[in-house]
Amino acid sequence: MIDINEINSRFGLPAKLAFKSIREDMTVADISTGLCTARIALQGAQVVDWIPAGEKAVIWLSEDAKFRPGKSIRGGVPICWPWFGAHDSRKDFPAHGHARTVPWNILSSEVLADDRIRLGFCLQTNEATHALWPYNSPLELHITLGSTLELELITRNHDNQPITISEALHTYFAVGDVRQVSVTGLDGCDYLDKVDNFARKTQQGDVTFAGEVDRVYLNTESGCVIDDAGWQRRIHINKRGSHSTVVWNPWIDKALAMGDMGKDGYLDMLCVESGNAAENVVIVEPGGEHRLWVEYRIENRV
Ligand code: BG6
Repeated sequence: MIDINEINSRFGLPAKLAFKSIREDMTVADISTGLCTARIALQGAQVVDWIPAGEKAVIWLSEDAKFRPGKSIRGGVPICWPWFGAHDSRKDFPAHGHARTVPWNILSSEVLADDRIRLGFCLQTNEATHALWPYNSPLELHITLGSTLELELITRNHDNQPITISEALHTYFAVGDVRQVSVTGLDGCDYLDKVDNFARKTQQGDVTFAGEVDRVYLNTESGCVIDDAGWQRRIHINKRGSHSTVVWNPWIDKALAMGDMGKDGYLDMLCVESGNAAENVVIVEPGGEHRLWVEYRIENRV
């Protein structure tokens, strides 16, 4: 059981960062500075809210999101690790790995010189996680929040054999109306079309949304821009250590079947996920590490 007072005395930052229990076994970090407000669930070290000062929400959280221990939270920035999507050989293992549904420990919290807040987390391991992933590979997440949002996911291999991971920062972005959104930066990239039985295709021009989109873009290290005509803004996504970008919107039927997307929630969101998946899996050698980094920034159109 988490001792909120102890966590706050070790990691709280006066008038900027406080930890709260929103229900039994569900603790969040509430951040409020001159630069942004934000919220992070300790389960999954999952950012569920980030609003730069004077802006609309950038991160989408479903109005029907369930904050339940052991269940993934619909929205925010779930961490898919140590595999993305279905497990290669075990159908009974959880989709997108276990990192998003288990508690993480807090490692550090600080106010940077420019008033941004930086938090460090590490994934908790136990017998249940060991049964899914029997390697000694500590996972850390560093989150830096201000007028931009940065996340860095660090996989270390303390084992004596190479480990192979796939991963994604599965970010749900809030948009005015996804039908008026285009994603630039993927023109000419090959992708696996999950809506068409993983057929390999090549992107022509921008990605737009008029139905279900579920694509794993391959061998792409470049960032993307979400151009949101409805809210007259662009969300810039920069990344390092990532060779895949996943673009996803479930559209109406799948959203209804999921049951936690909210009423017409699929119109207000899209996921642009920076990671390494399919043929872009990462091999981390013994004693080595791998870093996946993203930065999100808003630009208002004038
Ligand atoms: C995306 C996948 O990354 O995540 C989709 O490409 C999947 O196929 C979606 O439906 C949501 O997954 P989940 O497990 O959070 O419902």
